[in-house]
Amino acid sequence: MTDRGEQGADERGERGEDERGERLATALRARLGGIGYGGDYNPEQWPEDVWADDVRLMTEAGVNLVSLGIFAWARVQPDPETFDWGWLDRVMDLLADGGVAVCLATMTASPPPWLARLHPETLPVRPDGTVLWPGARQHFTPSSQVYRDHATRLVERLATRYAGHPALAAWHVGNEYGCHVSGSYGDVDAVAFRDWLRRRYRTIDALNEAWSTTFWSQRYAAWDEINPPRQTPTFPNPAQRIDFRRFSSDALLECFLAEKEVLRRVTPDVPITTNFVPLRDTLDLHAWARHEDVVSYDSYPDPADPGAHVDAAFGFDLMRSLKDGAPWLLLEQAPAAVNWRRVNRPKAPGQMRLWSWLAVGHGADAVMFFQWRASRGGAEKYHSAMVPHAGTGTRTFREVRELGRELAAVPEIAGTRVRAPVALVLDWPSWWGLEQDGHPSGLLRQREANLAHYAPLFGAGVACDVVRPSADLSGYRLVVVPNLYMITESDAANLTGFVRAGGRLVVSFFSGVVDDRDRVHPGGAPGPLADVLGLRVAEFWPLAKGEHVDVEEAEPGWFDGGAARGSLWSEEVRLDEASPLATFASGVLAGRPAATRNRFGGGAAYYLATRPDPAAMNSVLRRVCREAGAAPDLPNLPEGAEAAVRHAEDGTRFVIVLNHDDDGPVTVPLPPGGVDPRDGTDVVAPYRLGARGVLVVRYPPSPTGSRHGGPA
Ligand code: GLA
Repeated sequence: MTDRGEQGADERGERGEDERGERLATALRARLGGIGYGGDYNPEQWPEDVWADDVRLMTEAGVNLVSLGIFAWARVQPDPETFDWGWLDRVMDLLADGGVAVCLATMTASPPPWLARLHPETLPVRPDGTVLWPGARQHFTPSSQVYRDHATRLVERLATRYAGHPALAAWHVGNEYGCHVSGSYGDVDAVAFRDWLRRRYRTIDALNEAWSTTFWSQRYAAWDEINPPRQTPTFPNPAQRIDFRRFSSDALLECFLAEKEVLRRVTPDVPITTNFVPLRDTLDLHAWARHEDVVSYDSYPDPADPGAHVDAAFGFDLMRSLKDGAPWLLLEQAPAAVNWRRVNRPKAPGQMRLWSWLAVGHGADAVMFFQWRASRGGAEKYHSAMVPHAGTGTRTFREVRELGRELAAVPEIAGTRVRAPVALVLDWPSWWGLEQDGHPSGLLRQREANLAHYAPLFGAGVACDVVRPSADLSGYRLVVVPNLYMITESDAANLTGFVRAGGRLVVSFFSGVVDDRDRVHPGGAPGPLADVLGLRVAEFWPLAKGEHVDVEEAEPGWFDGGAARGSLWSEEVRLDEASPLATFASGVLAGRPAATRNRFGGGAAYYLATRPDPAAMNSVLRRVCREAGAAPDLPNLPEGAEAAVRHAEDGTRFVIVLNHDDDGPVTVPLPPGGVDPRDGTDVVAPYRLGARGVLVVRYPPSPTGSRHGGPA
């Protein structure tokens, strides 16, 4: 078959998988009868007489879904030849009788101690050679075939045993892949890394070229000389490190796929998911998500951080975007406090409900917790649970029960979608490249860049997807690139084509610097984005921590008061076609461009050569949104209030209004025609929403499809 033929087959295969995923996700929704609600259920930690009580309380709390047995491998398989399913059979039956569906874990996230005793080579190794021993969890290297064989053997037995069980609704593969160990540097890994590199580069010369190994005499003569980027005297080869991140993400994905293959074969009609960790640089989620039938996510915003909900919302928007807007499952959040920060503050009254609805507003079709019943022993005994140590007469259980009832009253929201006029670009390999050593500044962080650009959009109420640089951008009015340090020619062509076709593009500094092998693009930044941005960067002038540079408008209307302060970065920009919107007003770059616009094709591309202060970022992004025609779903909301909209296929809209303010009520100017979906009563505007309040309003399809009678 030609390459083209193979590519066609791949694409057809991918489409087939997408269609199957969509069908299975729809079936799961139908089975749950609305939004999924529940949590991690670990009955193996409790005597059997507690189980019946668990199921009774689950019914009371409105639980319709639990993630079962995530850490039960050692209990199910106490030695390599013994399987003990009896207890799990009884739990599954109890849950089925209680009407609680099960997202059954494949149990492979924490191998039993006998695996390490018999096969110490399955243990992961740090860059300095330290072995990570059993005694916690996730103590396996993904490259170990022995681990994979034991895992798939267990999964085969598990799937065969519970195929057709009335409680089985979905598969929960592993748990938070890469959470504690995102890469392993041992001998087993070295062999697998070399195989991966051979597949990628075919010849050692191609690898030497890709890794720029003529530098510092690193040229390899044979594959066996190559190792994972272990502890080195000074900066390790950056291209090697990026490839190792790619390899490590792929190695974990191979573990997931090996289990998936078994599950698909034995239970073809059961949807498969794995819960992603709160947004991190570990896995390339764009590569992972297409292999899941439904995307799921764990979210742990810090109740002590007043901006935590914005960060959480960013993760939610990413989850929704990973499968082109398909609803996703919030599989874990804390009912109150976690136990892994230095000081663990519980969620304030109403905060758990508020942040649960935040997830639904941003596309979640399930609201679940870690965990159902608080553990008595073990490392997580101080982590909150739906049923706390103090029992059901607690604020936490009351809030859990009330939220269960509330979600059950609006089943029609499940399956509806968010529509976003703006996309923000995020790419994992670029993230890995950005944060390496030996750069002009060690202060640049992808997450901070994302949030600096996302927060103004969130504050303005403009819905935003989070997409890969190669995504189809044609449906968006505005695309924001907080940082794309690494960019390929084809991704640059995608962004350029978007602007040519009439879109607006915002790009911030230190973007378009290197290619996918971490080699600087000829001519330097912004590399293949130079045309669309209409400029070149001559020299970087990064700013020290706490250092600022003054910025003033060159064209009026960009900053409130006409001026701003830049931090983190500045640079000497040479304009080609672009015109300055603002200039530096202090320091060595005084008088030179700090923000620019380039009218290009039918659209325009904007560039920020520094990080304007938050107020200035707000005014810049609001202005660009206006120029792009990217409107908020509900205009004129008071500070602290948010309105997220989910659209049903028939044109019905659910507006989820949230008051993120801890202190006081807000008055929300809702459009007429909305009803409270819980009882069908009219919602009268303006509506007064208390601190941490939530209001859900349903708007019928407008007869003309116009914006009258409800939000856009
Ligand atoms: C993660 C894990 C859970 C639990 C929680 C605690 O999300 O998946 O098993 O450890 O953290 O917050």
